[in-house]
Amino acid sequence: MDNIKSYKPIGVFDSGFGGLTVLKEIVKQMPQYDYLYLGDNARAPYGSRSFETVYEYTLECVTHLFDMGCELVILACNTASAKALRTIQQKDLPRIAPNKRVLGVIRPTTEIIGNYTKTGSVGVLGTSGTVSSGSYLVEIEKFFPNLKVYQEACPMWVPLIENNEYQNEGADFFIKKHVTQLMQQQPNIDAIILGCTHYPLIIDKIKQYLPQNVQLLSQGPIVASGLCEYLKRHPEMEAKCSKSQTVSFYTTDLPETFDKAASLFYGEAVKSKHLAL
Ligand code: DGL
Repeated sequence: MDNIKSYKPIGVFDSGFGGLTVLKEIVKQMPQYDYLYLGDNARAPYGSRSFETVYEYTLECVTHLFDMGCELVILACNTASAKALRTIQQKDLPRIAPNKRVLGVIRPTTEIIGNYTKTGSVGVLGTSGTVSSGSYLVEIEKFFPNLKVYQEACPMWVPLIENNEYQNEGADFFIKKHVTQLMQQQPNIDAIILGCTHYPLIIDKIKQYLPQNVQLLSQGPIVASGLCEYLKRHPEMEAKCSKSQTVSFYTTDLPETFDKAASLFYGEAVKSKHLAL
């Protein structure tokens, strides 16, 4: 399948496993397409890396996805969306692949966050990189200029999740710490974006430390609906995407290790292949 010229899967990229929470929802909403997932597990996590490094790694992986037939790639990673997307869209695509497209996960989320708050105070939980980029502040301001946005960086969460330690007691210390620190900034917050595609795995733990009225937004269903709308608005791109209902997984690290953890994120068994960078 992979070698056939008409194979034009939708690429879904993440630093590691988190993007699988997005892929799962995309496949649920649009099972007709082919999908190709790439996790850069060998170099994850990206969250605390510099702009230059995240950009360089992301562009390299996107280029591989293009070479494997993708016409459209979703950066199912907030850190990559925050630190690399704009440069790739504005500087690299016109040069390397003017007819291909790369989309992120921040915009679809910021487009709707205003519909979930009554108090006008919203929170964003994300990696250090996503928070320090200020991307959520800039994007929310465009759609909902009256909202007050409070952010909290949670640098330990992705390593705890990637190392499958998130169900253990030690994880609770860090989850409580950051949720409490966010709510201390503004106790009125009533809607929070899980601004990292890894965080849906700990959503129940996060909820434990929040008042009941606070809504938590996971990106998977939001990004999936956003992609569905995008494909309706861009029939030329929709026509290019092949429709044989396959889902293939690649990792830059060991497939056996990837497969073990991946099923937790994807919700079903995963069989990946290695991609050498
Ligand atoms: N899933 C990535 C995100 O959404 C995790 C980043 C990381 O690798 O630290 O930001």
